[in-house]
Amino acid sequence: MKKKIALFALCIISITSFAHDATMKPFLDALMKKMTLEEKLGQLNLPGSGDIVTGQAGNSDIAKKIEQGKVGGLFNIKSVAKIKEVQKLAVEKSRLKIPLIFGMDVIHGYETVFPIPLGLSCSWDMDLIKRSARIAAIEASADGINWTFSPMVDIARDPRWGRIAEGSGEDPYLGSQIAKAMVNGYQGSDYTSNSSIMACVKHYAMYGAAEAGRDYNTTDMSRMRMYNEYLPPYKAAVDAGVGSVMASFNDVDGVPATASKWLMTEVLRRQWGFKGFVVTDYTGITEMVEHGIGDTQTVAARALMAGIDMDMVSESLLNTSKRSLKEGKVTLAQIDAACRRILEAKYKLGLFDDPYKYCNVNRAKTEIFTKENRAVARTAATQSFVLLKNSKNVLPLKKSGTVAVIGPLADNKENMPGTWSVAADFSKATSLLTGLKEVAGSQVKFLQARGANLDEDSLFEDRAGMFGKSLHRDSRPAAVILQEALDIAKQSDVIIAALGESAEMSGESSSRSNISIPKSQQDLLKALLQTGKPVVLVLFTGRPLALKWENDNVPAILNVWFGGSEAGYAIADVLFGDVNPSGKLSTTFPQNVGQVPIYYAHKNTGRALKPGKWFEKFRSNYLDVSNDPVYPFGYGLSYTSFGYSNLKLSSNALKGNQTLTATINVTNTGKYDGKEVVQLYIRDVVGSVTRPVKELKGFQKIELKAGETKTVSFSISPNDLKFYNYDLKYDWEAGDFEIMIGTNSNDVKKASINWVK
Ligand code: BGC
Repeated sequence: MKKKIALFALCIISITSFAHDATMKPFLDALMKKMTLEEKLGQLNLPGSGDIVTGQAGNSDIAKKIEQGKVGGLFNIKSVAKIKEVQKLAVEKSRLKIPLIFGMDVIHGYETVFPIPLGLSCSWDMDLIKRSARIAAIEASADGINWTFSPMVDIARDPRWGRIAEGSGEDPYLGSQIAKAMVNGYQGSDYTSNSSIMACVKHYAMYGAAEAGRDYNTTDMSRMRMYNEYLPPYKAAVDAGVGSVMASFNDVDGVPATASKWLMTEVLRRQWGFKGFVVTDYTGITEMVEHGIGDTQTVAARALMAGIDMDMVSESLLNTSKRSLKEGKVTLAQIDAACRRILEAKYKLGLFDDPYKYCNVNRAKTEIFTKENRAVARTAATQSFVLLKNSKNVLPLKKSGTVAVIGPLADNKENMPGTWSVAADFSKATSLLTGLKEVAGSQVKFLQARGANLDEDSLFEDRAGMFGKSLHRDSRPAAVILQEALDIAKQSDVIIAALGESAEMSGESSSRSNISIPKSQQDLLKALLQTGKPVVLVLFTGRPLALKWENDNVPAILNVWFGGSEAGYAIADVLFGDVNPSGKLSTTFPQNVGQVPIYYAHKNTGRALKPGKWFEKFRSNYLDVSNDPVYPFGYGLSYTSFGYSNLKLSSNALKGNQTLTATINVTNTGKYDGKEVVQLYIRDVVGSVTRPVKELKGFQKIELKAGETKTVSFSISPNDLKFYNYDLKYDWEAGDFEIMIGTNSNDVKKASINWVK
C-alpha cells in the first residue's frame, strides 16, 4: 500500500511540470525497481492488435497479455471508445498499471485526408505541411491515438518503388525541411496539450534505395552517399526533437537495419544525440531469420543489442530475451535501457499523469473531419497539384458548355485519399465528377463515362485495388466501354481524361517495373485525342510516371497525385481557375524506366555531354534516349508566367564566415495572379571528392499579382557549402562555386564566386 501511495505521489509531482527530467528520473527509477524481468520485456512488446480490432477487448488473447503486463502498446486501432476500453485493462487490471501507448499510421491526415506525402511535398510550403500534420495530430488524438508512424522521410530516386508515394521525393534539403515541419506539426512545442502526439520518423535507414525499386530489397551504398544524400532527413527529424524512430526492413551494406548497431546506436544515438526510442517495423525482427542471420532467438538478441527498443508484431523480444539473458547473449542493462526509453516516452506524453489524456469521447465527436479541417485539406490539395503542360492555354476551363469526364478515375471516391489512409472514411471522400459539379455549378453540363478499365489484366487490377479501394471493374468488352466514351466525347466542348494509377498502385509492396500509364488507358487517351476535341489529362499517380508520349501529344496535363478526402473539389478549383496551380515536382520524371535512377543532383562524370547535345560517342549517354528527363526536379507551370532577371551577388570574392547575399527579380509576366517557388542551387565546382552538378540550398514561395515584380533575396553562408568528405567530416572547402537561382533545377540564372577560408 505504501508503495502505491509513493507511486501516486510521484505521479502528482510529475503533473506539476513538463520540463520533467528532474521528476521523470526518480519516478521511473522507482517504477523500474518494482518491475519484474517479464514486465520489462512486456514494455518492449508492440503486438499486432489482432482480435482486439474486431473482438471484445476483454476476451481476447491480447487482453490477457495486457493484464499480465506483457504489452507496451498497440497500434492501428480506430475509435476512442475501443482505445479507452483497452487502456482500462492496462491501468486497472495489470499489476503496475502502466498505461499503453497507442500508435497508428497517420501518414497524411486522419479522417480529413491530405494529399499523399509525395504530392504535399510539391507544395514546397512548410507552413501548410506543418499545419497538415497539426490537423492530423488533433484528429488522431481526439480519437485516442498518441503516436503516429510518420513522417516517412526516405529519399527515393527510383519511381519503380511504390513507397516513393509516402515520402517527399529525391532531395535531401527539401526532404529535411519537410521532416522538420512535420515533426513540429505533430508534436507541437511539447506534449502538454492533449492534441500533441509523438512522431516516429521512418524508415531508418536508406529504405528508399531498395535495389531495382523492388520493395524490401537490399540497399548497398557508400557512406559518403548515405551521409550526404540519404541520412539528412532522418537527422533533421532528430534535430527537430522527434520522439521515436522506426527501423527499416532492408539490409544496409550486409546487415539488416534492425540489427545494425552502427545505425541504431553509433549514428543515431552517439553521433546525432537521439534520446527517444526505436521501434522495429512490422515483424522486422523475425524477418531477419529470412534475411539469413540466425534463428529467432539470435535475431532478437541482435536487434536488442543493436539498440532496438520496441518490437512491432513479432513478439520475439518478449519470448526469447529471458533465455538470451541467461545465456549471456543480451545484458540486463540493455533490457533496462530499452524499457526505460519506452517508459520515458509514456511519461513525456503525460500518460502516467492521466492514462486517459487522449480518451475524451467528446473531442472525437467535435474535432474530426470538421469543416475547417476539410477546408485546409482542400487548399493543401490545390497546392500539391503540378501543371505539367498547358499548351494554347487550354486551362483554365470556362464555367460554361459541355464537359466530358472520362476515365476509370472520373467518378470514384475511394481512390481519392491515396495509399496509407488507414483512418479515412471513404464514403466521405469526393470523386472528381462530384467536385466538378459542385464547383462549376449548373452552367456546365457534365457527361461521364469510364472509357477503359484501369488495366487490361483483371488480376493486375485486383492487386491494385486493395483495402476497399476498388475501381469497380467494368466487365463489358473493352470496345464497348470505349465506344460509350467516344459517343459522349463527341457531344462535348472539352474532354477531361481522368487517368493514371489507382491509389494502391503505389505505396507498400506496390513496385512496378513499367512506370507508364497502363495500356488500356493509353489506348483510350489516343482515341480521345483523335476526336479533335481539346483534352485535359488529369493524372492520378503515386509516383513519377514515364510520360514522354503524353507530353508530346496531350495539350494539357495536370498531375493531381492522390489529393485526399477533398481531392474532387480541389481538382475542380484548379481546372476552373479558382486556384492557379503552383506545385513544383519534388522528383524527376524520366522519359522511360531505363533512365532510372535519374535525379537532378547527379555527378558530372569525366565524360559529361556537351550542352545542347544528346548523343556523342564515348560520352556518358544512351544510344536510344537523351539524358534529359521529361520534367526536371522543381518543375511546374502556372496559368501565368514568370520571368527571372537581374541576378546580383553582394560579392564575388568571399572570405571565412562572411555572408553572401544573392538577389533576383521575379516578374509575373502573365495575366493571372500566381505563386512561384524560387529555387536556389549551388555547385561546388572543385572538391577533394566529386560533387553534384547542383544542389538545392534554399527556396521561397512567393505570390505575385499579374504584372508585379518582387526582388527575392537569399543569404548564403559557409554552412550552406558544407558536405561530408571522404573521411565523413562535415565541412566546406575553399574554392569556386556557382550560384544558381531559377524556376526549376534545369532553368536557372547563374553567377560565380570564389570563397576562401
Ligand atoms: C510499414 C510501416 C508501417 C507499419 C505499421 C509496415 O508494413 O512498413 O511503414 O508503419 O507497417 O502499420
